[in-house]
Amino acid sequence: KILDDLSSGHEHNLLELRPHAEFVCGDIRDPAMLDRLLPGVELVFHLAALPSVVYSVEHPVESLSVNWQGTLALAEAARRHGARRLIFSSSCAVYGPRASGALSEDRRPDPASPYATAKIGAEYLLSNFHTLYGFETVCLRYFNVFGPRQDPDSPYGAVIPLFVKALLDRRQPVIFGDGNQTRDFVPVEQVAWTNLQAATCPPGTIVNVGNGRQTNLWEILRVLGDALGVAPDPRLEPERAGDIRESLADTTLNRAVFGTFDGPDLPASLARTALWFAGRLPEHRFVD
Ligand SMILES: NC(=O)c1ccc[n+]([C@@H]2O[C@H](COP(=O)([O-])OP(=O)(O)OC[C@H]3O[C@@H](n4cnc5c(N)ncnc54)[C@H](O)[C@@H]3O)[C@@H](O)[C@H]2O)c1
Repeated sequence: KILDDLSSGHEHNLLELRPHAEFVCGDIRDPAMLDRLLPGVELVFHLAALPSVVYSVEHPVESLSVNWQGTLALAEAARRHGARRLIFSSSCAVYGPRASGALSEDRRPDPASPYATAKIGAEYLLSNFHTLYGFETVCLRYFNVFGPRQDPDSPYGAVIPLFVKALLDRRQPVIFGDGNQTRDFVPVEQVAWTNLQAATCPPGTIVNVGNGRQTNLWEILRVLGDALGVAPDPRLEPERAGDIRESLADTTLNRAVFGTFDGPDLPASLARTALWFAGRLPEHRFVD
């Protein structure tokens, strides 16, 4: 069963899953909806969120309502209906913009936006559910996820689909700042794989999901341009307020818990993503 209110998601992304899953359009904060869907469910993969930091700064009440209260509503309903485990999509935003170096899970959280506060608050709440009620929870702190189907037209779009779209449209990609800022980019395939592994890892685990490798925006543009046969000619704009300089996951715990993800390396994943957007690859298959 898939529950999504389609506020930022698109039903057409689920076409391949149709034969395998029932899709219901609804809100994770709707108790009647949860009472209808959750009986008989063993595992809840909770990815629903208003996923933008910028949006959360503009709409703090709504962001906390969906991202924190929504998580509470879902966890409570899942527990009440006898689900075994909830796997939560948290974020590296919990470490805050001032954190530097490889970020390990024991680093003190320093949330600097309503989005990050909601994510760390939800983690604490889920940890309460685990210790107080024995309800199994796992929190996955994603770094910068990318891959096919990421929305390049969202007003809060992520950098990789924005770069790819600009290159395909023969426009200048925009870099805010000097382009030397780094992120830990992680392919969506690895995120999906990790979620499946998280169904059986020790309950109570809170773990980073990243590549353990920093990449700056120039490198990203170069790989995407090479894949598409376009020489990128970016336009530099002033750095945006609050932009972080570097982001890197310490993946020691991740590898200890889940082992090594046996997928394509970062340049290959970036190239595949670029080609997917260009329509040169058949649709990725998420279900065999
Ligand atoms: N993309 C990243 O780099 C990244 C990084 C860290 C964490 N995350 C987290 O991963 C999860 C997935 O994010 P994404 O990047 O795929 O974004 P996304 O917008 O594609 O996914 C979020 C989904 O939640 C749905 N949703 C929003 N509010 C809802 C509600 N009240 N009830 C039901 N559904 C609702 C949206 O329609 C959307 O399909 C989110 O929890 C996000 O915070 C993503």
